Amino acid sequence: MPPNLSVKLAPESPAGLTLANPVMTASGTFGYGTEYADVFDIQRLGAIVCKATTLAPREGNPQPRLVETAGGVLNSIGLQNIGVAAVIREKAPLWAKWRVPVIVNIAGDSITDYGKLAARLTGVKGVSGLEVNISCPNVSAGGAAFGARPDTAAAVTAAVRQATTLPVIVKLTPNTGDITAVAQACARAGADAVALINSVKGMAIDVAQRRPAIGSVTGGLSGPAIKPIALAMVYEVSGAVDVPVIGCGGIASAADALEFFMAGASAVQVGSATFANPRAALDVLEGIEAFMAKEGIKSLDEIIGCARK
Ligand SMILES: Cc1cc2nc3c(=O)[nH]c(=O)nc-3n(C[C@H](O)[C@H](O)[C@H](O)COP(=O)(O)O)c2cc1C
Repeated sequence: MPPNLSVKLAPESPAGLTLANPVMTASGTFGYGTEYADVFDIQRLGAIVCKATTLAPREGNPQPRLVETAGGVLNSIGLQNIGVAAVIREKAPLWAKWRVPVIVNIAGDSITDYGKLAARLTGVKGVSGLEVNISCPNVSAGGAAFGARPDTAAAVTAAVRQATTLPVIVKLTPNTGDITAVAQACARAGADAVALINSVKGMAIDVAQRRPAIGSVTGGLSGPAIKPIALAMVYEVSGAVDVPVIGCGGIASAADALEFFMAGASAVQVGSATFANPRAALDVLEGIEAFMAKEGIKSLDEIIGCARK
């Protein structure tokens, strides 16, 4: 019998969100999935999370928007995207033909925006779930401002929950005093799962120019540098909520992903690693399969949270 890698990300949701395996792509690092369709067999992934989608198209922040740092990358894209109407018209019909489920990451300037986005995407063929981005560090309104406090995080979650029958994942920010309290508030407000972490607020200065290295001064740090932070937060949150936790932050190899499972994550997202290796997510999946075969592990449940005991 091949090992069972399937994972139920929204066990309480009538719509359900069962992935064939726990390896997803992280929003903003894998476009709409279509860009990678010729690079490797993306249908083998557990799920694809698309770039953040807002009600209207957005141009994003001033350049430069991406700077390499030690062990990571600092970005300030600012939610550049084609807008929800184009996603529904141009992308969803392609996704509907895919085996791999696509989850749409949504972002708004106000709580009302989130509800409207959720309503617009509900019932659209090709959309299997929503990931509510209350964690973007690179916008002046909304984004991480909602995710920093339990009450505002819960208000956004409740608005989305009311507006949709789709499975709802809430994506959390590490830029808060108490991510566990925020996760608990989201779970109470109807989140089917939580994903963490989004990027960590950071900065770099171009010494030659004597100016901030990115256009919007600060940005979001991602990559290997943030993995220990993400892992500690996943460990804490998964001990405090009953909903599935999706781990994200610096995952570039199967060994990284296994650490997150052992800390309590039910699934993982591969983000910045894709920039250096476009098939990073598939490499992570194949490495997990090899580890399970070698260790005689029949089901992921055998390792999820094992480091907690
Ligand atoms: C260039 C870039 C764009 C991103 N865009 C989004 C986004 O649109 N929505 C979102 O929720 N997260 C976004 N993120 C955050 C990632 O999904 C992920 O949470 C973060 O990068 C940490 O994972 P990593 O270290 O594996 O990259 C973005 C990250 C990067 C590097």
